Amino acid sequence: MNYDSPSLTVVSTEVEPGAIRWRSPSNIALVKYWGKHGDQLPRNASVSFTLDGAATDTTLHYSARKAAGEGVEVELYFHGTMKPDFTARTKKYLERLLPIYPFLQQLSLRIETSNSFPHSAGIASSASGMSALALCLVSLEEQLFGTMTDRDAFLRKASYLARLGSGSASRSVYGTAALWGAVSEVEFSSDEYALPVADRIHPVFQTYHDDILLISKTEKSVSSRAGHGLMDLNPYAGARYAQANRRVVTMLDILRRGDTENFGELLESEALTLHALMMSSHPYYTLIEPNTLHVIRTLQQFRRETGHPVHFTLDAGPNVHLLYPDTVASEVRNFIREHLLYFCEDKMYLADRVGKGPQQLPVNETSSD
Ligand code: DP6
Repeated sequence: MNYDSPSLTVVSTEVEPGAIRWRSPSNIALVKYWGKHGDQLPRNASVSFTLDGAATDTTLHYSARKAAGEGVEVELYFHGTMKPDFTARTKKYLERLLPIYPFLQQLSLRIETSNSFPHSAGIASSASGMSALALCLVSLEEQLFGTMTDRDAFLRKASYLARLGSGSASRSVYGTAALWGAVSEVEFSSDEYALPVADRIHPVFQTYHDDILLISKTEKSVSSRAGHGLMDLNPYAGARYAQANRRVVTMLDILRRGDTENFGELLESEALTLHALMMSSHPYYTLIEPNTLHVIRTLQQFRRETGHPVHFTLDAGPNVHLLYPDTVASEVRNFIREHLLYFCEDKMYLADRVGKGPQQLPVNETSSD
């Protein structure tokens, strides 16, 4: 896929100031992306559920740039405050997109962004944040040039641009579930953008819950970026990439059949494999906390006693995601309150579920708080 378009430039005097706003959710990987190469290309395919509540709301304000200059003119406000570090990172990202969107250099941009979840919650916001920004950019292309009228092409390009910002963000542009990475069994699957797989998902999974237990809000000691990098020298890397590609196909089959038991087994093995990869990196490191294991053990006991299909997964951090069908929701909620909140920092958890995907919103509502 080559999106380079030198012709996408504007006549500055003709640009009316405007704004575009998208709300885009986070996602939880069922089969994990861990290891990358080249320009943000994954070493293996991954599949995720798109979440509902955990989301980023981003408004992109644009106007003609007063004077031509180097690079991209942008300021980023996070929850109403100008953030120099986020601004610098966003500027770098937008400048990488200049071959695709040369018009970005002709505009003055102000980005207002806010998350639905507390900043201190220790939840990665790169998937929701980068997908919201990518969606705003493709909408901006459509607004300025009218080139993005086909919805599938629109979302595919947003997924591609989101991937360049953060790999997992490529999956957030689609509701319910998404597949990122080429697997021979799925036509049109690609390392460059994610595909929607909502129409292959059994109804039981379409209303699945994902409650996020906030074990620790401390910033993680090793970033995802560094963690991906360490995979290059991990002695198990080759076997892992092959396993993940097989598992994506198995997971898609499980999701289609509505098989909650095998779902859980694969889900949990993926979580532990991810952390085993961290522990077998050089230098090795651990991101799980003692309370992560306490939650896992307590959950296993609850499962033995009730037989309910409640299973855990982990991101690159200590927080535990509990995934379960709607039919057992009230019992699981009680179990969390009575037995698991004790292990959470400030007794906090976020009740989330599988969601319908990003939404474009009217800009007149306030988007920063
Ligand atoms: C463990 O997408 O955050 O959550 O591409 O460097 O931004 P970058 O990494 P990122 O990695 C996510 C890793 C993961 C698994 C997953 O979401 O698939």
